[in-house]
Amino acid sequence: MPHLLDWRLLDDATWNGRLEAAVAHHRAGKTWTGSARGKSLAMLFFNPSLRTRTSMELAAAHLGAHVTTITPGQGTWGFAWDDDVVMDGAEAEHIREAVGVLSRYYDALGVRVFASGTDYEKDRADALLHTFARAADVPVVNLESAFYHPCQALADAATLTTHFDGDAAGKRFVLTWAYHPKALPMAVPNSAVLTAARLGMHVTVARPEGYGLDAGVMAQARAYAEARGATVTETADPDAAYDGAEVVYAKAWGGPLVYRDPAREAKLRQANRHWRVTAERMARTREAAFMHCLPVRRGVVVDDAVLDGPHALHLLQAEYRLHAQKAILEYVWDLPPSAPAPVSETLSDEA
Ligand code: CP
Repeated sequence: MPHLLDWRLLDDATWNGRLEAAVAHHRAGKTWTGSARGKSLAMLFFNPSLRTRTSMELAAAHLGAHVTTITPGQGTWGFAWDDDVVMDGAEAEHIREAVGVLSRYYDALGVRVFASGTDYEKDRADALLHTFARAADVPVVNLESAFYHPCQALADAATLTTHFDGDAAGKRFVLTWAYHPKALPMAVPNSAVLTAARLGMHVTVARPEGYGLDAGVMAQARAYAEARGATVTETADPDAAYDGAEVVYAKAWGGPLVYRDPAREAKLRQANRHWRVTAERMARTREAAFMHCLPVRRGVVVDDAVLDGPHALHLLQAEYRLHAQKAILEYVWDLPPSAPAPVSETLSDEA
C-alpha cells in the first residue's frame, strides 16, 4: 500500500522523485492537469489547519480529484481509538469502522492527528497514525502526526532546492528552537532536521539545555548527513548558532521534557523567552534565508523585521505546499507525472 506516513519509511529514489515532481509542479504554476480525474480523497482533521487543509483540497482539485474534508465530531460522530474499548462514553463510532467505511468510498485518505503530549512512547511511534493506516484499505497520507509532517517536509525540501538553485547540499542549515507560550509538538522540527540532513546540508540544532530532540530522530539525521558527507551538530548558544548560517529555520517545541515533567518544562520555557529570531541575530549569518512552517507568532518567535525582510522564505514554503502535495497524490495513486514542461523549454522548441 503506497501510504505516505513518514519519509524515513521510503527510499531515496522515491524521495528524490517526489522532490523533482514538487519543483516541476511549482514551475508549472497553478495548473489544472486533471490527471487524477475519477479519483477521490477524504481528509480527517482532528486538529486545526489553514495551509494543509486548503492546499491539499486545491492540489486534489488541480489534479481533477474529488475531495471531502471532515472535522471529526463536528457534523460527524466522535471517534474512539483504543483497542478493546467499551464504548459507553461520548464517542459513538470506532475509528476502525470509520476508516473501513471511508476506504470503501474513497481512493485515498488523509489524516491530521497530533501528539498526545502525555505518552512519549506512543507519540514517538506515531501510534494513532498507524492505527488509522492499519484500518485503511486505501493509501493514507499523513497530514501531520505526533512525530512527522511529511507534506511540510517535502515543501521545505523543494523550497530549499529552489532557493539554492538546485543544490542545497553542503549549505549551513540552523534549526533554532524559539520561545512560545505553549509547549508545541515535535512533528515539524523532527521533519525539518531530517529533511535538511537528507539534502546533505550541514545541520545545527540550536536549543536551550533540556530541549534536545528525540534521540532516534537525531540518530537518523546523523545517518543521512554522514552518508552525504555532511554533519549534524547541536548547540545551546542562541547567538553563536547564527554565525555563518545560510538558512535559519525557527520552530518552538516542548520536547521530551514536557512528557516527563510538564511543570518543569513550563518554567524552563519561560526562562528561555529570549530565544527569539531577531534582526541582530540574523545579521550574524551569511544573509541567511529565514524559514518557518507557519502559523507563526510575530514578536514572540520572530521579529517583524525578519518576517518582512528580504530573506524570508515562509510564504514560498507555504506556496510549495500546494505543489508538494500534488507530487504526493501522484505517488499514492501511482499517476504519471502531470506537471507540464517548463515554459522556457516549450519556447526553445519553437525557436
Ligand atoms: N504548516 C502547516 O501545516 O500549517 P497548518 O497547520 O495551517 O496546516
